[in-house]
Amino acid sequence: MNNLEINFCKNKMNNPFVLASGVVWNSIPKLIECAKNNAGAVTTKTIMNEFRPGHPNPTIARWEAGLINAVGLPSKGFNNMEDEWTELNELKKIKPKVPLIASIGATKASDFKTVAEFVAGKNPDMIEINISCPNVSSSGKLFATNPGLSSLIVEEVKSVAGKIPVIPKLTPATSDLIEVAKACEEAGADAICAINTMPGMLIDIVKKKPVLSFKRGGVSGTSIRPVAVRCIYDLYENIKIPILGMGGVMNGKDAIELMMAGATTIGLGTAVIQQGTNVFKKISEETNELIEKNGYGSLKNLIGAAHE
Ligand SMILES: Cc1cc2nc3c(=O)[nH]c(=O)nc-3n(C[C@H](O)[C@H](O)[C@H](O)COP(=O)(O)O)c2cc1C
Repeated sequence: MNNLEINFCKNKMNNPFVLASGVVWNSIPKLIECAKNNAGAVTTKTIMNEFRPGHPNPTIARWEAGLINAVGLPSKGFNNMEDEWTELNELKKIKPKVPLIASIGATKASDFKTVAEFVAGKNPDMIEINISCPNVSSSGKLFATNPGLSSLIVEEVKSVAGKIPVIPKLTPATSDLIEVAKACEEAGADAICAINTMPGMLIDIVKKKPVLSFKRGGVSGTSIRPVAVRCIYDLYENIKIPILGMGGVMNGKDAIELMMAGATTIGLGTAVIQQGTNVFKKISEETNELIEKNGYGSLKNLIGAAHE
């Protein structure tokens, strides 16, 4: 059997497969289950600056090529989550260690720093900044469509994160992806996470109404994989920091495709919802088999291989 161990942002991971933010909702027991079932690292749901109830149901729908969701970033608010941090202590008992990525978000650019400072005090292994969420001060435009704002948020989070690596998470819904990524890199980001969901909508033709209560949502799963591959490929050519790639990875073949585009580690979101928490073991085995069958040698040889 091949070795899938990999170093990412000063963290040693048992394999490159990361539980993506939000897909086990706010359930810490489910997150721990992923860690026990061979996840290489686990990400919390985005911890917001304030209490948010989230949108009413239906918030998520399945369709032929993936999912669409508008959960609405429900959160108790960063300073009201003591029970969750206590539950997360369970992670420390798992051997070998499964690093914890805390995902943070805010509705105003000036609030990211406050959330980051509080969360850094809990000492996660990495901090992911969800800058693909809407900016209420700018009529809901996503922060990560604006290079200046993205750079400011990364700088402010870095100023309070100490030694904890900081990873901004980008949206594919911009023609300025590279400018945003370069601005984040210059502001001190330790890696880039790409991609978040793609804006979309589904309509129920019997009810003559959008399927989701919020009408518009984020598309994830198989349908966005080519979008993720393109974004990661372009990022790899333009930045030097490593990439946590995600978007539509369902099996070992998909994972290798994102790595060949330039990802060092791979997030699994929709795959966990559709295939359960055993998916980490399954994809690790498939990746190992493909490495052997195709004579790739080692996992490291795959990163950016499509650029040679
Ligand atoms: C139900 C659901 C909830 C999500 N919640 C979050 C979240 O809280 N924060 C975040 O950064 N991304 C969130 N995402 C986006 C995923 O982390 C991931 O970037 C996206 O789904 C693409 O990967 P996938 O195709 O493997 O699902 C969510 C996705 C889904 C499907």
